[in-house]
Amino acid sequence: MKYPKEYLEEIKTRLKVSTVVSKTVNLKKRGKEYVGLSPFKTEKTPSFTVNDEKEFYHCFSTGEHGNIFDFIMKTQNLKFGEAVKTLANLAGMRAYTFSKQDEEREKSWNKYKLIYSKYIEFYHNEFFKNPSANIAKDYLKKRGLTVEEVKKFNIGFVTNEVDFYEKLLNEFDEDSLKNSGIFYFDERKKKYIERFRDRIIFPINNISGDPIGFGGRILEEKNYLAKYINSPETLFFKKGSNLFNLDKARKLSNKINEIFLVEGYMDVVGLSKNEIFNSVANLGTSLTSRQILILNQFFDHIIICFDGDESGYKAALRAAENSIIELKPEKKISFLFLPDDQDPDSFVKDHGKEYFLEFSKNNKVLIHKFIFEHYLKQLDENPSSRAIFEKKLRFISSTIKDEFIKKYVLEYFLEKISELTPNINLKKYKSYKNTTKSLKSTQSYYNETKSLKPFEIKEFSFLYIILHKPELIKENFHLIENIKLFSNENKLLFDEILKQSNNLKKNDFQNFDIDKNLISRVLKYASIKHIISKNPEDSQKILEIFTEIARDLKNYELEFRIAELESKFSKDLSEDTFNELKELKKLQKIN
Ligand code: UTP
Ligand code: MN
Repeated sequence: MKYPKEYLEEIKTRLKVSTVVSKTVNLKKRGKEYVGLSPFKTEKTPSFTVNDEKEFYHCFSTGEHGNIFDFIMKTQNLKFGEAVKTLANLAGMRAYTFSKQDEEREKSWNKYKLIYSKYIEFYHNEFFKNPSANIAKDYLKKRGLTVEEVKKFNIGFVTNEVDFYEKLLNEFDEDSLKNSGIFYFDERKKKYIERFRDRIIFPINNISGDPIGFGGRILEEKNYLAKYINSPETLFFKKGSNLFNLDKARKLSNKINEIFLVEGYMDVVGLSKNEIFNSVANLGTSLTSRQILILNQFFDHIIICFDGDESGYKAALRAAENSIIELKPEKKISFLFLPDDQDPDSFVKDHGKEYFLEFSKNNKVLIHKFIFEHYLKQLDENPSSRAIFEKKLRFISSTIKDEFIKKYVLEYFLEKISELTPNINLKKYKSYKNTTKSLKSTQSYYNETKSLKPFEIKEFSFLYIILHKPELIKENFHLIENIKLFSNENKLLFDEILKQSNNLKKNDFQNFDIDKNLISRVLKYASIKHIISKNPEDSQKILEIFTEIARDLKNYELEFRIAELESKFSKDLSEDTFNELKELKKLQKIN
C-alpha cells in the first residue's frame, strides 16, 4: 500500500534532513551543508554531508545517498512503512490510516503502471523488429538519432496492424484500459482505437520514473493531423505537474546546478544525443508555476530555452510572467533565445555541445531583465504609453511572492525607468545630495522609516486622520467598519480608538488605556501629517484623502488574501478555492 504523496511531502516539509540525522549523528554546519562522521562506516575524518535545501544526505566514503526515509530505513534497519510511521511521529503527525478509497486508488495505479509498461515494451520492440516500423527507423535516423537514444528514452512506434487493445483485454478490464488514455472509443466503428497509431511515441514518466503518458509524433507532416498529440489528463497524469525527462535529469542535481527547460520532446532527445543531459520539456501546454517549484527542488538555476520563432518568444514571455511569481532569493531563472527558426534540437545538432553551452553562457538573460526589455520594446514616446509601461512593471513585481525579491525587482524596474526619464532623474539626484548632507537625526529617521512596511505607513496615516478628526468615525462609519489593519500594534490602537469613540476629542489621548508609544509612532511616521497640517480645517479635502487611504488599506487586505489563496490553490487545486479567488480578483478590479 502506497502513502499519498501529500502525506509524505508534509513529513518532509516538517522535518529537515539535518533534524532527523542529528538525532544520531553529530553534525557541524559548513556553508550551506552540514558535515559529520559517517553512520555507515567507522571513520576519523567526516565524509558525511547533509543538505537541507536539496533534502538529501550523502556519504562520500560509502556512496550512500538518500532522503530522510532512506536514512531511517538504513540506519535503523526498518521497512519503508515503519520509517514513515517513525518520522510522522517525530513530525507530530498522526499515523496514516488507509481508507477504502486509498486502496482503490492504489489498485488502479498498479494496473495503470502495468498497462503502460506492457504497452511501451510492446511498441518499443515493434520499432526494432516489425518491418512496417522501418519508416519510423529511417525517420529517426534521418534526424540523427541512434539506437542509444531510442533505448534510453524507450521510444516506440505504434504500428498499424496488430490489435493490441484486444491483447490487453485478456489481462485487464475495459475500464482500466479506457482510463489509461491510450485508447479512445470510436462511436462509428463501435470499438476502442489506438490514440497513437502510426505515431512515434515518447513515454512521459513521473518523477520516480514510472510511465504515465505519451507524446506522439507523426512521421510526415500533414495539415489535417496534429504534428504531436499528447495523452489526455488521467487520474495519474497531470500535465502542469510533470515534465518530460525530469526523472532522469533530477538525478544529476548533485553534480549540476542548471537545468534547461525546452519546448519539445525532440529537443530533450537531441540535447541528450549531444551529451547535454540536464534538460526537461513541458508537455504541450504552457509552463505552470508548479513546474518551476518542482524544478527548484533540484536545481538552483532554470534556463528556459524555447524555439527561436514568434510562438516560442510568446511562450517565453508567458512563462516569465508565470514563473517570476515563484522566484526565490537563492534561485535563478534565465531565458536563452536562439537565432531565428532554430530550436534547441537543431541548434545543438548544427553546432555541437561546446558551442551550445558557450552560447548559453554568454547569451542567457535573467528573468527580470527579459521582462523589462520586452516591455521597453513596446514603449512609445508619449506619457500614456509610459504610464502603462510603469504600471505593468509595477504590477508584475507585485505578483512576486517572496518579499525580498519583490522589493529588488521593483527597485530594478524603477531604476531603469528613471534612466529613461532624465528630468525626473535630475530631481532625484538633487534630493540625494541633500540627504547625504543631512543631519544625523534625519538620517536615523530615514533609517527607521526604511524598515517600516508600506502598509504600516498607510495605517499610520489612517490612524493619524482619525485622531485628528475623531468625528469622522461617526459621520463616515461606512469607511471604517470594514477596515482590517495588519500591524498588531496599530490594531491595538485602532481597537482602543473605537472603544473610546463616543467621547473622543481631537488629539486628546489622556484616557487611552494603551502604551502611549503606539500613539507617538503614528504621530511621528504618518506621512499624511504634512498635508493635513497645511489644510487642518479643510474637511472636504481631509475626507477625500481619508477615503483614498481607506480604499488602499482594503486593497492591501485583498492583495494579501489573494496571495494566501493562490498559495493554497497551488497546493489543493480545489474548485472552492478557485472560485473564492475569482471573486476576490473581481473585487480587486472594482476597487
Ligand atoms: P514543435 O512544433 O516545436 O516540435 O513543438 P519539435 O519539438 O520541434 O518537434 P520536431 O522537431 O518537429 O519533431 C514543441 C512541442 O509542442 C507540443 C509538443 O509537446 C512538442 O514537443 N506540440 C507541438 C503539440 O502538443 N502539438 C503539436 O501539434 C505541436
Ligand atoms: Mn521545436
